[in-house]
Amino acid sequence: MTKKRIFSGMRPTGKLHLGHLVGALENWSVLQEEYECIFGIVDWHALMGEYENSHQIKKNILDMAVDWLACGIDPKKSIIAVQSDIPEHLELQMFFSCITPLGWLERNPTYKEQLREIKTRDLHTFGFLGYPVLQAADILLYKAQAVPIGEDQLPHLELTREIARRFNHLYKTKVFEDCKAILTETPRLLGLDGRKMSKSYDNAINLSDSAEIVRKKVQTMFTDPKRIKLSDPGHPKICNVFSYYKVFSPEKEAEVCAWCTKAEKGCTECKKILAEDILERIRPIADKREKLSKDKGYVEDILKQGALKARVIAQKTITEVRTKVFS
Ligand code: TRP
Ligand code: SF4
Repeated sequence: MTKKRIFSGMRPTGKLHLGHLVGALENWSVLQEEYECIFGIVDWHALMGEYENSHQIKKNILDMAVDWLACGIDPKKSIIAVQSDIPEHLELQMFFSCITPLGWLERNPTYKEQLREIKTRDLHTFGFLGYPVLQAADILLYKAQAVPIGEDQLPHLELTREIARRFNHLYKTKVFEDCKAILTETPRLLGLDGRKMSKSYDNAINLSDSAEIVRKKVQTMFTDPKRIKLSDPGHPKICNVFSYYKVFSPEKEAEVCAWCTKAEKGCTECKKILAEDILERIRPIADKREKLSKDKGYVEDILKQGALKARVIAQKTITEVRTKVFS
């Protein structure tokens, strides 16, 4: 039986953090055993939001590749490629742009939210409105049957399906199949301050942070606000530190619950223990990261090889699409 194919992508907009690790990368490295995986560093998508800071994207691409490899994405098992190295993404986006009704894009909840929330950049552009059209092209170019994504991306996947159906209907074909989401089971990690973990909130622990910085950052985490004195019993269920324990040392859950609710340990000590558990988990990644950072040529070569492999699949799809549309 042939393996099912997966595509997923990440925008190279800055440093990767623990949220990326437990929300995506750990999952991806498991999936590559079972699926044929293509992981895209989607730099055009980064440019749509960061066109005023475009000069950073190149460095971010290489950093992202290093992080992915350090986290266990294996170029022998998966294709790792940069979106802009494969021009077929843009060609398919053009085909899809012609058939996507404006209303579908204007109604997209993620789009509306971002226009509302992001005040530091002007996103009222033609390119940004078309963000999900390019995302649909990313996925359908490789005819991926499954897409590992976070819940926030579900509206984009729904649009991908609608575009695929509309294409098939208009050109009386079955070129594109339906694709499904693979959602991660891990509860998403919140940031140090309890909001969504994000570079723009400056509340993340980055994969490249030193041990000292990780320890310091963990000490700043918000805890149960009702626990003021050491003798006050705490409520682990509402404490963000406890939710980190669930991810990084689930075997300690009962123990932490006990020392917290019986006020046997204070938050400072509780956080110290957590910091060491986090460090233990990310130390092998940091070591690998350091080695890879010294060998830029090796990483660049992986991306070059990845693009070559991806283009073989991409060109096949584009040939089919051209034939269906134009002949
Ligand atoms: N929009 C995605 C994000 O911000 C990134 C992305 C681009 C993507 N193309 C994709 C994800 C294709 C999955 C499949 O997270
Ligand atoms: Fe949170 Fe630990 Fe403090 Fe309890 S002891 S409130 S779990 S940091």
